[in-house]
Amino acid sequence: MGCSLSAEAPDRRPEQEEEEDAVPVSLSAESREAIRSSWKEIQEDISRVGVIMFVRLFETHPECKDAFFAFRDLNDVNALRASKELKAHGLRIMYIIEKTVARIDQDDRLDQLILDLGRKHYQYKALPKYYDLMGEEFIQAIHPVLQERWTSDLEEAWKTLFLYITRTMKKGYQQAQRSHSSS
Ligand code: HEM
Repeated sequence: MGCSLSAEAPDRRPEQEEEEDAVPVSLSAESREAIRSSWKEIQEDISRVGVIMFVRLFETHPECKDAFFAFRDLNDVNALRASKELKAHGLRIMYIIEKTVARIDQDDRLDQLILDLGRKHYQYKALPKYYDLMGEEFIQAIHPVLQERWTSDLEEAWKTLFLYITRTMKKGYQQAQRSHSSS
């Protein structure tokens, strides 16, 4: 199991989990609704938000580019912004967020989706220590899209959702790592 997201999910005792990052994350029904309605607006700007997230990530943490064969040698910000591969990757992330929002009330299906994504990131050699940065960059990128509709409650709701995504991805990564080392 991953980290259950719905507020109704039962608390899990820490000793039931082996992973240090498996603390449950919960979102109130109100926060889930706020995420759903803001997502409709963010969606209109989906490819731009995806590109902004990555350009910012690579500016602050250039070493993250090493995981991406297609643009690891691009050092110029304008070349990065214009890169088709970067746009495609940004869109992949946005589509997974779209699926996450669509499954926000279905803990088990959501857990499976994100655990699987974490397992894939083990194959991609994308280290878990960088996942949290994506959440921060996402918040920075959507803030100007929502403008006056931005509130501190909405910010908290999105941060919590990303906390869930990154913790569950890390758990999937660890699962893949363990099964690789035991095979
Ligand atoms: C919240 C954080 C992140 C999310 C939600 C995310 C999401 C995704 C998704 C949806 C894909 C496509 C998966 C597929 O093949 O079906 C992907 C691929 C990939 N991700 Fe991430 N990612 C995140 C963070 C990162 C970070 C920090 C790195 C690098 C340090 C990274 C490196 C990669 C690479 C190398 C691929 C495969 C190449 C590609 O699809 O362009 N990811 N990611």
